[in-house]
Amino acid sequence: MLICHVVGARPNFMKAAPVLRALGQFNNVKQLLVHTGQHYDANMSDIFFQQLEIPAPDINLHVGSGSHAQQTAQIITRFESVIEENSPDLVVVYGDVNSTVAAALVCSKLGVRVAHVEAGLRSWDRAMPEEINRIVTDQLADLLFVPSEDGRTNLLREGVDPNKIHFVGNVMIDTLQRMLPEATRRIPANLPDRYVLVTLHRPSNVDDPVWLHSVLDALRSLSESVPVLFPVHPRTRKRLEDAGLASNGLLLMDPMPYLEFLGLQTRAVAVITDSGGIQEETSFLGIPCFTLRENTERPVTVTLGTNTLVGRDLDALRSGLNRVLAGEQKIGCVPPLWDGRSAERIATIIADSMEIDSGREARFASQQSGS
Ligand code: UD1
Repeated sequence: MLICHVVGARPNFMKAAPVLRALGQFNNVKQLLVHTGQHYDANMSDIFFQQLEIPAPDINLHVGSGSHAQQTAQIITRFESVIEENSPDLVVVYGDVNSTVAAALVCSKLGVRVAHVEAGLRSWDRAMPEEINRIVTDQLADLLFVPSEDGRTNLLREGVDPNKIHFVGNVMIDTLQRMLPEATRRIPANLPDRYVLVTLHRPSNVDDPVWLHSVLDALRSLSESVPVLFPVHPRTRKRLEDAGLASNGLLLMDPMPYLEFLGLQTRAVAVITDSGGIQEETSFLGIPCFTLRENTERPVTVTLGTNTLVGRDLDALRSGLNRVLAGEQKIGCVPPLWDGRSAERIATIIADSMEIDSGREARFASQQSGS
C-alpha cells in the first residue's frame, strides 16, 4: 500500500508529522511525502521539518509564490505527474491551504482516494481564500477527519455521506503535547515577566494599509503597559514595508521556529492573532487569545476555549486586554478528543478502510476470473 502525503505551507507541517509517524507503525504501508514548495523560506519550512522530525520530502514541487490561480495551477500541473508516476492508493491532504485543494483536485480527476485531515471547519466567510479551499476539498474527499463535532454537522449540511466522516480530534494538539517539554526547555531566560505575543498575516488584516496602521497604533499603545513581541510573517513584513509603517515600541522578530514559538505562547499573558492554529493552541494551553477576525472556522475555541473574537473592534481588544492584565481572564476547557491521540485514530481508520478496499478488489478479481 502506498500512501502519499501532501504538505506545502507552515501550518501543514505540524498536522502531517503525527499522521506520518502513526502510519509508519504499519508494516505494509509505504509513505511518500510531497512538499509543494508553497512555503520555501528556511524559517517557514526547513526548520519545521527538523524540529518536528519529519523525514525530508521525497519530492519537492518548488511552486513558490504567485497569485492564487498561478500557485494552485502550478501545484495541479506538477502534482499530476507525481500521481501518474507513483500510483498511490491514498493521498492525505491537510488543512485549508492552496496545496490542499490543488492536490485534492488532481486526485479526484485521476480516481485516487483522498483523505482530508482537519475537514468540516467553516467560517461561513467566502472572502477568505481558505474557506473556498475547505469547501472544495471536503466535497472531493473520501475520508474526512474532523477535529470537533461542529465539523461533522457542517459536512452533513453540505450533503457529505455520513460514512465518510470521522470525528478524531485535533492532530495539531498531538504535536503540541509531544513537543511541549522541549519547547519549555527552550524558553529564553531573559524573557520579560509579562508580555503579549502577536501574529498577523491574513489578507483581511495586512493588505489594507489603513486598517494595518490602526492595528499597529493599538499595539503601540498596548506596548506602553506591557512588552509586545511580534514575530512577523514574510507577507506582513512586505506589507509593513510597502506601507512605510513604523513599528517603534514593538519587538518585531523574524518568523519563529515551532518550538521557540510554542515556548513563547506558554508564558504569554495573552496572544493576539489571526491564525487558525494559534486559536487552538492557546485554548489547549489556557492562554487568553484575542482573534482579529469577524469569524472563526474553529468555534470550539470560543465556546469551550479561551478565544475571544474581536473582529475590527479595537476598543474591544483594548478592554479585553486590560481585563486580562488586571488578572481577569476567560477560563476555558480542552475540547473533546484533543488528547494527543488523533493521529493514531486516523491511522487506524485509514488502515481499516484500505483493508476493506483491498478485500473488495480481491473479491472483485475472483468474481471476474470465476465468470
Ligand atoms: C498561507 C495559507 C494560509 C496560512 C498561511 C500560514 C493559502 C491560501 N494561505 O498563507 O492559510 O495561514 O500560509 O503561513 O494557502 N512568502 C515568503 N516566503 C515563504 C512563503 C511566503 O516570503 O516561504 C511570502 C511571499 O511574498 C508570498 C506571501 O508570503 O507571496 C504569501 O505566501 P502564500 O503561501 O501565498 O500565503 P500565506 O500568506 O503564507
